[in-house]
Amino acid sequence: RPRPDDLTGSEAKCQPDAERDSFTAGKFPDNFKWSFATAAYQIEGAWDADGKGKNIWDTFSQTDGNVQNNDTGNDACKSYYNMVRDVSNMKSLGVKDYRFSLSWARLCPTGKCKDASGQEKRGIDHYHKFLDLLIEADIEPFVTLYHWDLPQNLETTYKGWEGAQVVEDFGDYARLVFSEYGHKVKNWITLNEAEVVCDLGYGIGVFAPGKANLKSQFDCRHHTVLAHTKAYHIYNDEFRATQKGQIGITMNTDWYEGFNESKDNYDAAQRWMDLQLGFWADPIYLTGDYPESVLKNNNDTILQRFTAEQISQNKGAADFFGLNHYTTRLVTDGNAAGENKGVDYTQHTCPQWPQAGSEWLYSVPWGYKKLLTYIHNRYDSEQYPIYVTENGVSSRGNGTDFEPELDDQWRIDHYTGYIGQMKRAIDEDKANVQVYTAWSLMDNFEWASGYTERFGMVWVNFTDPARPTYFKDSALFYSDLITTNELQC
Ligand code: NOJ
Repeated sequence: RPRPDDLTGSEAKCQPDAERDSFTAGKFPDNFKWSFATAAYQIEGAWDADGKGKNIWDTFSQTDGNVQNNDTGNDACKSYYNMVRDVSNMKSLGVKDYRFSLSWARLCPTGKCKDASGQEKRGIDHYHKFLDLLIEADIEPFVTLYHWDLPQNLETTYKGWEGAQVVEDFGDYARLVFSEYGHKVKNWITLNEAEVVCDLGYGIGVFAPGKANLKSQFDCRHHTVLAHTKAYHIYNDEFRATQKGQIGITMNTDWYEGFNESKDNYDAAQRWMDLQLGFWADPIYLTGDYPESVLKNNNDTILQRFTAEQISQNKGAADFFGLNHYTTRLVTDGNAAGENKGVDYTQHTCPQWPQAGSEWLYSVPWGYKKLLTYIHNRYDSEQYPIYVTENGVSSRGNGTDFEPELDDQWRIDHYTGYIGQMKRAIDEDKANVQVYTAWSLMDNFEWASGYTERFGMVWVNFTDPARPTYFKDSALFYSDLITTNELQC
C-alpha cells in the first residue's frame, strides 16, 4: 500500500462535518445478516497435519525476515484442533452466519484436484466435520475458496498466479469443493481480495510469494479475474440447478475521495477506484472488460487484454457483490504532464482520523457510506446485493496486555460509526446491503504483521499452548446487535 502523507488538518475534508459524520440508532431491515469472518491460514495452524501440502504462506512465513518477529501460522489459533471451541464461542454470542475459508493444500496437497489421486481424504473429511458442527449449531456457512494460501507446488511449477494454468487448476479445485460440500453450503466466495494477493504478493513482495515485479502483478490480476469467472461458470453449469446456492467474489477497496472539489483530484480518486475495485468489479458487474482508465494507462505488454469470448463470460458472473472495506484516503492528482498525466497521484490522511493498530487503518466511517452508495449506483445493488464480507479494526499488542485488551470500548466506537453509516447508506441512498461481516471472530495471524495486530472480538492467548479464548467487550456489543438487529448508540 502506498504510504499516505498526513495533511495538516486544516483542510476542509479533515474538519468535522455534522451532517456527514452523524448517524442514528435503529433497526436494520428484516433478514439482514450479521456474520463473523476468519481465514484458514490465519487461524487453523496444523500446517503439516493429515497430509496437508505446503502453501505459499507456509514457505513465506517460515523464511526469516518476512514476517514481524518471524511469526508463522504453523500453530495460529489451532482452530484445526479446536472446532468445538470456535463453534461454541459463536453459539454463545448468538451468531447465525460465519464466513471462513478452505485450505486448498489440505484438500489437494499439490494443488491438483482433478483426480482422486491428487485429493487428501483426511483434509476433505475435516471440513465435513466442521460444516456439520456449524449446521448443528444453526450457523449458516459462507465459504471462501481462496484466502491467499496457494499450494506451493503451483508456485514452484508455473509461478502461481502468474501462470495461466492456475485458472484451470482453480476450476478443478472449485469443482471438487462444490461437489463435496455443496449440499451443506449455499454461499460461495471464490477469491478474497485478489488486489492484495497480486499487488502485495507479486507487485511489491511484502506478502507471499514475495515477488516484486509489475508484469507479475498484472499477470496475477488478470488470472484472478479469469479464475473467478471459471469457478462461477462451473457452479452455474454443473451445480446451481441441484444445489441452489449463490456465488460471488470478495473485493477490497478503500474509499478514495478527491482532496477537494477540483476536477483533476476528482479524476485521480476515480482512477484509484478503477485500479483497486473496478479492475475486478467492472468486468464482473458492469461491462465484462476493464475500466477505461485501466485500459488506457497500461499498455498491452503489462496488461493482458480479454478476448471477446472472455468479456462475455465475465459479464454478470456473480450473484452478489462481496466487499471488504476498512479505510479512506483523500487523493490529489500528481499534476504530471505528458505520458504520466493520469497515472500520477498522491494519497493523504487527516491527523484527526483515529489510527488503529495497523498503520494503514484509519477510522473514517463517513467514507464507508460514500463507498456503499458509489457501489450501489455504479454496480446496481438491486441486481447484485452488497455483502459486506469484512470490516473491522485492530489493536497493537504483544499478548501481555490482557486486561486492557478486553475493555475495547474504542473498538465498539469504531464499529458503531461504521455500522451507523452503513445504515444511512441503506436508509437514505437505498444501497441494497444484505450482509455485514465483522473481521474478525478472534485474534489471529495478521499476515506480515504476525501476531502484533489484533483484529478479533474474541481475545486469544497465543502464549498458552491450549489457546484459551475470552470475549472482549466488543463481542458482547456485537452479540446484542445480532440478537436485536438494532444499532444502539
Ligand atoms: C483483509 C484480509 O482479507 C484479512 O485476511 C486480513 O486479516 C484483514 N483484511 C485485516 O487486515
